[in-house]
Amino acid sequence: MRSFDASIPPEPLAQGAHGARRSPRIWAVAGGKGGVGKSVVATNLAVALAAPGARCLLVDADFGGANAHTLLGVSRPKRTLSHFLRGEAKSLEEVACATCAPGVRLVSGAFALLEIANLNHAQKSRFLRHVQRLEADHVVLDLGAGSSFNVLDAFLLARRRIAVVSPEPTAVENVYHFLNAAFFRWLRGVARQAPVRAVLEEVLAEARRQPLVPRELIALAAQRDTRVGRLLQERARSFAPLLIVNQADRPEHHCIGPEIAAAYREHLGGRLEHLGTLARDECVLESVRRQRPALQIFPAGAFATDLRAAIDRLHGGTTPDPDAPYASPRACEAARAMARHGLGGTPGPAQQHPAPTPATPIDRVRALQLPPLDTAHPGAYLRRCRELLGIPLPQLLEQTCIRGLERIEGERFHELPPEPYVRGQVLQYARALGIAEAEMLAESYLERYRRAALSA
Ligand SMILES: Nc1ncnc2c1ncn2[C@@H]1O[C@H](COP(=O)(O)OP(=O)(O)OP(=O)(O)O)[C@@H](O)[C@H]1O
Ligand SMILES: [Mg+2]
Repeated sequence: MRSFDASIPPEPLAQGAHGARRSPRIWAVAGGKGGVGKSVVATNLAVALAAPGARCLLVDADFGGANAHTLLGVSRPKRTLSHFLRGEAKSLEEVACATCAPGVRLVSGAFALLEIANLNHAQKSRFLRHVQRLEADHVVLDLGAGSSFNVLDAFLLARRRIAVVSPEPTAVENVYHFLNAAFFRWLRGVARQAPVRAVLEEVLAEARRQPLVPRELIALAAQRDTRVGRLLQERARSFAPLLIVNQADRPEHHCIGPEIAAAYREHLGGRLEHLGTLARDECVLESVRRQRPALQIFPAGAFATDLRAAIDRLHGGTTPDPDAPYASPRACEAARAMARHGLGGTPGPAQQHPAPTPATPIDRVRALQLPPLDTAHPGAYLRRCRELLGIPLPQLLEQTCIRGLERIEGERFHELPPEPYVRGQVLQYARALGIAEAEMLAESYLERYRRAALSA
């Protein structure tokens, strides 16, 4: 008989002892990809949260790439995170400074030492502990790009976890990988318990030949052991990240948020709330040039208006019901297809970042064996190359974590996910085979995909 703690255990670092003092509400802004607007969103979010008279503290936790001080008009912060991490300041509170925005203070990461880009475990724990003790109503963490454990742990510490994505396919891919990695790290809190681990191992061993999405994995675990299943389901539900699509400048960009949310639900089984879509706005560029937050100097601009609406939805509890059908059934169906056919594979530490396989010397040798590129029939070309190299589909599936490779090969366009994902998958597939002209192949594939969509 298995025995285990059925309650959700506290996060290792999430709950400090604060005595009678109220701990701040912690927000984290991340997103996987660089340059999507995480810092712009984080600084303006801090301004918005401070507006009703609340005390807000922005912590620039982009170790090694800090720039929030510039966005908040602080040219040379006297004390920074470096002082705290070197032990020259006893608390994070000591290194906070005033900014150009009323009610917003800043813990700057400026002039970070090289080693600060790679915090060790003790530094990270101390940093996260102190974040929870900051004297503020709201603490906003501006996190760096990527899915390192430092970023993930700071993201998971927050009560409000915001992932920012821009409409580029690479950003969509990265935010998905980021959320996937964060989700698994979050699940780890219960998956480390021996009975849970045992059930997961059994399910994974059985599903060896048939990769599972995490939602399926949890459902199978529940079939085996209801208590384990319930624990995993509760944990998955409590992750609940928020999504902001930033820099939208075309009407179709408004579909990206609901599509990612639907794919997330299908794939991870939890809920992701699409908080809002923010316009790409000249005011933001100007505000960065002037080193003042857009919300402060262009409060009526499109970006400021969209961001305030997003925050209002959250405060007013008007975020959409994650289980309600989306307004656009096409977008919803497309997102479902995306989740069904290839947004990742069997979960496991080694598969959290199914990044495109880089060109290795082996790839280059392989490429010599390949026939000349055929852009007229890219799907058939991929199949021919794979067969020539003697790689069975299941092996490639294991390598790329792309489900539905045969649909790509067969150019079964109507069964494929939306365009940005198709591009990523074809690229990944081609690179896994060592096809040097992977980009060109992906472009010709997309051309045919679009033509098929038009004629459908
Ligand atoms: N909504 C927007 N409209 C127009 N430009 C924007 C918008 N959001 C961001 N930008 C532009 O993108 C630039 C990069 O934004 P930001 O520094 O916030 O990205 P980031 O995700 O924090 O990048 P990093 O990963 O390097 O920290 C800004 O300096 C600004 O010029
Ligand atoms: Mg940034």
